[in-house]
Amino acid sequence: MSDATTQAPGRVLLQARGVTKAYKLGSTKLEVLRGVDLDVCEGEILAILGKSGCGKSTLLHVLGWLDPADSGSIHFEGRDRASVPQRERARLRNEVMGFVFQFYHLLPELTALENVLMPSMIRYGRLAWPQHKKAVTERAHVLLEQVGLKDRMGHRPRHLSGGERQRVAIARALQNEPRFLFCDEPTGNLDGKTADEIRDLLWQLNKETGQTMVVVTHDARMARQADRFVHIVDGRARDDGELDLVEEIQRD
Ligand SMILES: Nc1ncnc2c1ncn2[C@@H]1O[C@H](COP(=O)(O)OP(=O)(O)OP(=O)(O)O)[C@@H](O)[C@H]1O
Ligand SMILES: [Mg+2]
Repeated sequence: MSDATTQAPGRVLLQARGVTKAYKLGSTKLEVLRGVDLDVCEGEILAILGKSGCGKSTLLHVLGWLDPADSGSIHFEGRDRASVPQRERARLRNEVMGFVFQFYHLLPELTALENVLMPSMIRYGRLAWPQHKKAVTERAHVLLEQVGLKDRMGHRPRHLSGGERQRVAIARALQNEPRFLFCDEPTGNLDGKTADEIRDLLWQLNKETGQTMVVVTHDARMARQADRFVHIVDGRARDDGELDLVEEIQRD
């Protein structure tokens, strides 16, 4: 059983305080996050659990600085998102944070290999690209091989299965060797064996490189292997749930 707590031991890399977020649809306001407090420590794997629709993806996007909170703060390495200029936020997201989206967000006109290379192209830009191209292309090949897509590098997303797209998205998130990885149900569309392989790969990266990871998951095995877990209930992060109970909740 993981020792779940929202207060992580060690150096806090990511800190959320009083985070709220609502969606407005016409005259209706849907309050999804209602005051999330959460710490993520350097080198740990934190699993986020909760019922479908409870706000896990919303929270992950806010934690990863993709979307702003309505109120509250998100500090990454001591810097408040609200005070970091857009350009610097984009640089940090590209170089320091990797993101595996629940619905992949691959570029349809690019091949699997080109999708994985995209973060490196953005990082180096047109001028520096030629000098880095060989090394980063080699890395993209290795990553695609590690996620089991050696024979699919030239395929466009529409010619890949859901699970294969997910694996391309994982390789893309790892391409720039981020120190911090956000994963939104990274094994959600994979069969048991492939899910085990992907989980092993992510855990291996955590052990070898000390990469910090926040992972939204319905995969009980993944949650069990995380250093800690929290679950989202009524728009807040709770650390007092038993994992078995959490699984019960998710079966509702
Ligand atoms: N852009 C949006 N506009 C309006 N409502 C939204 C928007 N995005 C999400 N929602 C609503 O907010 C709630 C939380 O959505 P979210 O995607 O964060 O849930 P989730 O916990 O990730 O669910 P799942 O486990 O099914 O992926 C849901 O009720 C959803 O319908
Ligand atoms: Mg989601």
